[in-house]
Amino acid sequence: MASEMKRAAWGAQAHKDEIGKLPVAFPRTMGPNAMTYLQEVIDTGMTCDMMGRFEAAFARELGVKHVIATPGCTPALAVLAAAMPWEPGDEIIVSPVTDYGTVQGLITQDYIPVFPDTAPGSINFSAQTIAPCITDRTRAILCVHMTGIINDMDAINALAKQHGLFVYEDVCQAVFGEYKGRVAGTLAQAAGFSFDAEKTMGSDVGGCLATDDSDLAERARFVGQSRGGVMKPHFGRLHTVAGYAYRMPNCTAAICLAQLEIIRPQVAHRDAMIRLLYEKLAEIPGIIPPTIPEYMNLFSCWMAGFNIDAEQFRCDTESFAEQLAQAGIPGAGMGAYYLMPAALTCLQEQSTRKLHPYSTPPASREYRYSGDDCPNATKYLETYIRWSTFCEKYQPEHCELAADIVRQVADKNRR
Ligand SMILES: Cc1ncc(COP(=O)(O)O)c(C=O)c1O
Repeated sequence: MASEMKRAAWGAQAHKDEIGKLPVAFPRTMGPNAMTYLQEVIDTGMTCDMMGRFEAAFARELGVKHVIATPGCTPALAVLAAAMPWEPGDEIIVSPVTDYGTVQGLITQDYIPVFPDTAPGSINFSAQTIAPCITDRTRAILCVHMTGIINDMDAINALAKQHGLFVYEDVCQAVFGEYKGRVAGTLAQAAGFSFDAEKTMGSDVGGCLATDDSDLAERARFVGQSRGGVMKPHFGRLHTVAGYAYRMPNCTAAICLAQLEIIRPQVAHRDAMIRLLYEKLAEIPGIIPPTIPEYMNLFSCWMAGFNIDAEQFRCDTESFAEQLAQAGIPGAGMGAYYLMPAALTCLQEQSTRKLHPYSTPPASREYRYSGDDCPNATKYLETYIRWSTFCEKYQPEHCELAADIVRQVADKNRR
């Protein structure tokens, strides 16, 4: 019993053999030092600065000057949004296919998210699709490396430079992936990360902001991590800005620190397995895995997916995905809800009724949010099936098994 508990504590159960089944992320593989660091938090009576230790270790590993640890990526990007000197009604260009967490901070700061279309046949936008969306109100471009596919950042940075725009990354789906030998999260001026339980570097929750910009880091700590307070003699704290007080808890930092120690070999393994999986899927008629750009020398993802050629099958995408889930691909489903201009009905309502910040001023023009404005993305997602259970436990036999399941469902539904 005692040894069972110890094994479970180290996440040894994570790799229990399940013959003929695809692995899932849970139970997570835990860094061997997780318990030591957690114990330290307890033994020191909450006086050790585990958050600071994690920030320093993550900054070192990433090769950036500053890491500001938060309870998740949603708060990390909200902190950045609050720390930037943008005004209500300013426009931020955002990848159209993403999670709500990417845009939450923009919405609460009363900035206006603008969604370009994706590049044809891709889940990401591109410099070409971004360019027509730039106006004199545009302040920044927020690039999401969706499903681990890293955006072509050189082209996007070059475009941004022409217009004096700030560029930042949402790295939740590409942790330690690499673009032309440079790690995701260091490809622009700042980046948000998530260490949410199901993700690549899964802790319980957690996230951070990373940047080389010392002024931004200082502002982000002040408005984001602290209560935005300065001390006034004989009075106490004055809240000069509306601070968030979003700090990563020390126990979360203890787990993140332990997970960081095992992440690099895991990502190298994920890279080999996802490439193998997509190679095998590409052999199945009617199945179209994503193109992996040549500039990506390390492919890190936790969400996998592919398109189907709808003409070749009798069933629709939703039914195809349901059959996959039943046949043994846990979590297979449609990804249509990731199309933010269609999913953000709160902004549809706000902009249609011309409520702040869509009123005049501060808005400089009319805004619409709907899938119709992103025809490439809409078309792509109509035939896209995602599964969020790809993980470091995949071995070549699991790639083979996943491809077999997809092949069987495809053959059953073939016209
Ligand atoms: C692209 C992207 N951005 C942001 C988030 C939100 O991250 P968190 O749960 O850490 O707030 C997610 C979560 O799935 C995500 O996939």
